Amino acid sequence: MTLALLCAPALAAAGEFFTLEGHGGPVKGIAVSESGAILTASFDNSVGYWMDGAPRWLEGHAAAVNAVSFLGETRAVSAGDDFALYLWDLDTGQGRRLGAHLGKVMSLAVSPDGQTVASASWDGSIGLWDVAGNTAPRFLKGHEAGVNAVAFTDDGARLYSGSADGTLRLWRVGDGTALGQIANNGFGINTLVLHEPGGWLAYGAVDGATRILSIADGTEIADLTLDRRPILGMAADPARRMLAVGDGEGYISLIDTASWRFIVDFHATLRGPIWALAVSPDGTNIHAGGLDDAMFSWPVDGAEAATRMVNGERPFLSGSEATSNGEAQFMRKCSICHTLEPDGRRRAGPSLHQLFGRVAGSLPGYGYSETLLKSDITWDAETIDALFDLGPEVYVAGTKMPMQRITGAQDRADLVEFLRHATQTE
Ligand code: HEC
Repeated sequence: MTLALLCAPALAAAGEFFTLEGHGGPVKGIAVSESGAILTASFDNSVGYWMDGAPRWLEGHAAAVNAVSFLGETRAVSAGDDFALYLWDLDTGQGRRLGAHLGKVMSLAVSPDGQTVASASWDGSIGLWDVAGNTAPRFLKGHEAGVNAVAFTDDGARLYSGSADGTLRLWRVGDGTALGQIANNGFGINTLVLHEPGGWLAYGAVDGATRILSIADGTEIADLTLDRRPILGMAADPARRMLAVGDGEGYISLIDTASWRFIVDFHATLRGPIWALAVSPDGTNIHAGGLDDAMFSWPVDGAEAATRMVNGERPFLSGSEATSNGEAQFMRKCSICHTLEPDGRRRAGPSLHQLFGRVAGSLPGYGYSETLLKSDITWDAETIDALFDLGPEVYVAGTKMPMQRITGAQDRADLVEFLRHATQTE
C-alpha cells in the first residue's frame, strides 16, 4: 500500500479531498493516467500537467482547451475552441500541432493501441488522427449537428459517437463506414461511457437524460435520469464499477454499475456546472472541474460509506416523502466529508456526532486547521446557520472546509433541524 502511494505521483493521500489551483480560468477537461497523474484543460488556453502537486503548463492553444487525454504516461493530446489538436511531450512540455477541425473540438478518445486519436467536433465530423503523423487525418461525416463525444471499442475497430443532433452512432474505424444509429435521444448527447465486457453504454444529454443501453441490441438497461440538466460529464473507474455523472447544476451522482443504483449524490460546486469529470485509477477519488479556476478532487470512500449511514439503502433518493429536506441537504452537501456517528470513521472532515454545544475544533484526534482551533465558536443552530449563510471561507477564513454556501434560509433551517436530531442518536 505504502509502495503504491510512493510510486503514484499522488497529489494527496488517496481518499482525501484536495484542490489543484493555478489555472486562470474554469476547468473544462480532466484526464488521469494509469499511475494517477492528472491533466487539466482550461479556458485559460493551457493544459496543466500535475505530477507532484506542482503544475507544468502546456501552452500552445490559441483559445480555450476543452479536452485532454493521456497517451501513456509521457505524452498527451489536447483540443479546444481553436479547432486544433496538439500532441504534447510531457517530459519536455513541448507541443506539436497535429492539425485542426473546421469547428471547436469538444472531446477526444485514444484508441486502445495508442496509435489513433478520435476527436469530436462542432464542425459535425469525427476526426481520426494518426499519432505518429504518418497518415493524413480522416473525417467521418454523417451527424447532422456538432459531435460532442466519442468512444472506441476495446479492439479499436469501431467507434461510438454522440451528437447535438440527439443520435448515438457507430462507425467502422478502418474504412470510416457508418454502421448505423444506435439510439436517438431527441435532445443532444453530451457524453458517453462504454463498457464492452459489461455489455453497456451510458450516455448523458442536454435534457438531463442519463441512460444505460445494451451494446448488443440498443435496448435500455436503466434510466437514471433525474430532474437536473444538462448532463455535461461522465466518467468511470478503469474497472467500470462506478459511474460518475456531473450536471449543469453542479451535482455529481455516483452510480453503482452492478445494480444501477445511486451510491450518493452531492453538490460539488459553489456555483455553476460540472464540466469535467475523471475518476482516479484506484477509484478512490473523483476529480471535477467547473466554473472555479481549480480542480476539486472528492473522496469516494466517504461517499460509499455515506450510503450505509442513513436509514439503510438509497438514503438520498429514497423519495421526497421518505427523505426530509434537511436530510437531503446533509446527504448531498455534507455526507461526503462528515459522518454523524461517534466511531470516527475517516473522512475529510470531523464527525458531527454531538455537534451541538461543541467548541469548534475540539473533537479529539482530528487534525483541524489553525484557524478553527483558534476560533471561539461554539456550534449551535445560529453558528451552523451562519457558517453556511456566509460560507466557511468567510465565516472562518482559512478553514480547511471547502467553500460552500446554502443560500436558501429554509434549506439551512431544515439542515440544522436534521442535524439537531441526527447528531444526538446512538
Ligand atoms: C469537502 C469536504 C467537506 C464538506 C462537503 C463539508 N465539510 Fe464540514 N468540514 C470539513 C473539514 C475539512 C472541516 C475541518 C475544518 C478545519 O479544520 O478548518 C470541517 C468542519 C466542519 C465543522 C466544524 C466541526 C468542528 O468540530 O469544529 C462543521 C460544523 C461542519 N464542518 C459542518 C458541515 C456541514 C453541515 C456541511 C454540509 C452543509 C459540511 N460541513 C460540508 C470538510 C467538509
